[in-house]
Amino acid sequence: MPEITLTTLQSLKQSGEKIAMLTCYDATFAHAACQAGVDVLLVGDSLGMVLQGHDSTLPVSIADMAYHVASVKRGNQGALILADLPFMAYATTEQALHNCAVLMQAGAHMVKLEGAAWLAEPIRLLAERGVPVCAHLGLTPQAVNILGGYKVQGRQEAQARQMRADAMALEQAGAAMLLLECVPSELAAEISQAVNIPVIGIGAGNATDGQVLVLHDMLGLSLSDRTPKFVKNFMAGQSSIQTALSAYVKAVKDQSFPAAEHGFSA
Ligand code: KIV
Repeated sequence: MPEITLTTLQSLKQSGEKIAMLTCYDATFAHAACQAGVDVLLVGDSLGMVLQGHDSTLPVSIADMAYHVASVKRGNQGALILADLPFMAYATTEQALHNCAVLMQAGAHMVKLEGAAWLAEPIRLLAERGVPVCAHLGLTPQAVNILGGYKVQGRQEAQARQMRADAMALEQAGAAMLLLECVPSELAAEISQAVNIPVIGIGAGNATDGQVLVLHDMLGLSLSDRTPKFVKNFMAGQSSIQTALSAYVKAVKDQSFPAAEHGFSA
C-alpha cells in the first residue's frame, strides 16, 4: 500500500493543496521523485516517445508498460503509481480487464485510460473489481490520427459542452480521477469545480487540482526542437536533477506553475 492513496488525493482536492504528478519510467527516478515530494508517479505511454524514440505512443505494448511499472515500483517510496493502458489494450472489455490485471500485478495502484463517454462501461466494471481508473480527456495522444495532430481540444462551445458532459458521466461511472490534456484553462477550471474527484491538468491552466509534466520535458531534454507551450524547464538555474524535481513540486504546490503563459484560451 502506498503512503499516498486515493483517500489522500481526495483530501488534497478538498483542502485545496495541489497534487504534484510527474511521469516516471524507472527505479532511480522513482526514488528521486519521491525524495522531492511527488505525490503520483505516472508510468505514461509517453515512454514510447521519450525512451523508445517513436513519433507517437501507438507502438507501446502492454509488456513495455508492465516492465516499466515494475521498475518504478522497485524505486517507489510511498507515491501512488498510476499506469497507462497503451493503445488498443482496452479496445474490448475483456482486454481492459486482462491488461489492467497485468499492470496492477506489476505494481500499479491505478490505471489511466484515454477516451470519453465510451469509457463509462469499462470504468464501471474495473471499479467494481477493485481497479481505480483515471480517465484522460481532451487531447488524447492515442487518438492523434483521428484528431489530426497534437491540438488543443474543447475550444468550440459544442466540444466544450461535450467534454463537461463526458467528465460528469465518467465520474458517475466510477472514475477515481480525471486528467485533462491541452484544454482551455477556463473549461478545465469549470470541470474541476463540477466534479468531486481530483482533476489533474497538463496544458489545462492552474485551476485544476494538480499538475503533471513529462519528466524529460521538465528536465529540458527533448528529441525535437519544438517545446510545447505548457512545458517549463525546471532544470534551468538548478545544479542537479534532484533540486529541479524539488523545484517542480514546490512550484505546483505554491501554484506558481503553471503560469498564464503555459495555458490555452478558448
Ligand atoms: O503518457 C503520458 O505521459 C501522459 C501524460 C502526457 C499526461 O499521459
